[in-house]
Amino acid sequence: MIDRDAEADDLLRLTMGSHSFRLIGPRRYGKTTLLRRVLAAAEANGTATVLVDLQDVLSISEIVVRLESAYKRLKGPVRRHVEDLLRTWNLGVSLGAAGFTASLRENPNTNPEAVLLRVLEIPEALFERNGTPSLIVFDEIQDVLNVPGADGKIRSVIQHQGRAATYAFAGSAPGMMNRLFSDPSRPLLEQAVPRHLEPLPLNEVADYVITRFQASRRDPGRAMDPLLAFARGHPQRSMMLAHYLWERTPAGETADESTWLAALDQASADTGLLMQAIWRALTLNERRVARALATSSAPLYSDETAALVGIKRTSIRSAVDSLRAKADVVDAQGRLRLTDPMLEHWLRSQGALPDDGDDTD
Ligand SMILES: Nc1ncnc2c1ncn2[C@@H]1O[C@H](COP(=O)(O)OP(=O)(O)OP(=O)(O)O)[C@@H](O)[C@H]1O
Ligand SMILES: [Mg+2]
Repeated sequence: MIDRDAEADDLLRLTMGSHSFRLIGPRRYGKTTLLRRVLAAAEANGTATVLVDLQDVLSISEIVVRLESAYKRLKGPVRRHVEDLLRTWNLGVSLGAAGFTASLRENPNTNPEAVLLRVLEIPEALFERNGTPSLIVFDEIQDVLNVPGADGKIRSVIQHQGRAATYAFAGSAPGMMNRLFSDPSRPLLEQAVPRHLEPLPLNEVADYVITRFQASRRDPGRAMDPLLAFARGHPQRSMMLAHYLWERTPAGETADESTWLAALDQASADTGLLMQAIWRALTLNERRVARALATSSAPLYSDETAALVGIKRTSIRSAVDSLRAKADVVDAQGRLRLTDPMLEHWLRSQGALPDDGDDTD
């Protein structure tokens, strides 16, 4: 893992001090990777650690199943304690093979809300039993907003767990995270300390890539600078492009500008479908602003930009706001840019606006 030492230390310190936190960063910026590292460190300090992936959950039952899967990854005495608890509570939730899904099938009248509330009490029960504190990570927490009432249920149980449990909430959409944490009518956890994940420092990326190349008798050479400038510290894109470069650099040799261009071409070809999917997930006006950001040097809020990409001048700001709410754009050295350098590159390499079908905004 490149860098993130300071971030990992900070989050571990918060955990050990029983301070819950929320980690906000764009897609693929390494939130889950960082949290796994914090979980491993907390586990080594005797904490029961649970990573609950809430991506795309649609129902309370599904949230129960995600929690159950997370607890299934526990090991050792803590796992046995949780198994004992679940057996005593007799909720149909189990760390064995047939879990909550099977029990729902057998007892369709099960009340998933009641089960969820109980499962959320596991950390307190563990703490009462032998003083084991828990670190519970809710990854992709914004997706609970798709389940009516779920955030309120979670809040009602976890708010008062004190030293028994520290909660970490991770999400990539700052707009949704604000709805969950800053809206006074539904604060998920009032004292969850906000932390924002920034791009990686370029010198750390360079050190890492050079070391990895050297370990297999390669040298990134003159390809290093254009790679760094292109990827702008985006963690996943930096790693991916370094890998493409490595593949094109034979052992014993040094890469150069043309190796870099060949690597970038291959990466673009391989991610074309993904870029299309990302593009199609944007609204029409978001696409227009994205296109302007990628291809035009005209001031963004200008008639020139409006004419260039076919947007009303007055609509530019709201499209920027909605891109910002999803962290699809970032401020890079005082300039608004697309967060994903591959998307920026893909847009630049397109001639006209791709076929936008019959979308309406
Ligand atoms: N600090 C880092 N050093 C090296 N690789 C990293 C780093 N951070 C992230 N990556 C790589 O980038 C990819 C995305 O990381 P990860 O899944 O942790 O991001 P995320 O923010 O959780 O993304 P998502 O929003 O899609 O859940 C992974 O393949 C990971 O290996
Ligand atoms: Mg993630």
